[in-house]
Amino acid sequence: MAEIRIRNTEERIQGEEAVRAFLDKQEVLYEHWNPAKLAEGLQQKFVLSDEEKQEILTTYDEEIKDLAERRGYKTWDIIALSDATPNLDELLKKFENVHTHTEDEVRAITAGRGIFIIKGTDDVGYFDVELEAGDVISVPEYKPHFFTLMDNRQIVAVRLFIETEGWIAHPFADEKFASSEA
Ligand SMILES: [Fe+2]
Repeated sequence: MAEIRIRNTEERIQGEEAVRAFLDKQEVLYEHWNPAKLAEGLQQKFVLSDEEKQEILTTYDEEIKDLAERRGYKTWDIIALSDATPNLDELLKKFENVHTHTEDEVRAITAGRGIFIIKGTDDVGYFDVELEAGDVISVPEYKPHFFTLMDNRQIVAVRLFIETEGWIAHPFADEKFASSEA
């Protein structure tokens, strides 16, 4: 289950209900898929063939189509990152800049872990959402954020898009944000 860490206060929010209530207030969609639906051999696999990616999409076909129908997504794919990914460090460096998009950023984690750093309302400031398999999150359009991996540096996620161009990152310069403590 996802966990929240509020950066200014170090406060942690745990438990599905509390996490959902917090994210609701921040207008961040949070849902949950059953991670056990995925074939056991894919639950800890981070280098995937095209067939394996397709198998993940087929496993969650119902969930994907339900989400797509409700929220207008038209295309989806699988992203897999691990130390086997060429230039992972460079890639993460590129990721770790606060930015916005003109459409929402949806990720359904199917294996591994990941973390979204999001600019919350003024009373909250930046907060982290730590995600694990089964967690589904959508960061609204124009909400400053970035995504990175956690210590295990392994993740597989389904990404959904309204239009692929909507996902272009626009840098959000914010002197109040200090990434060094991440
Ligand atoms: Fe983003």
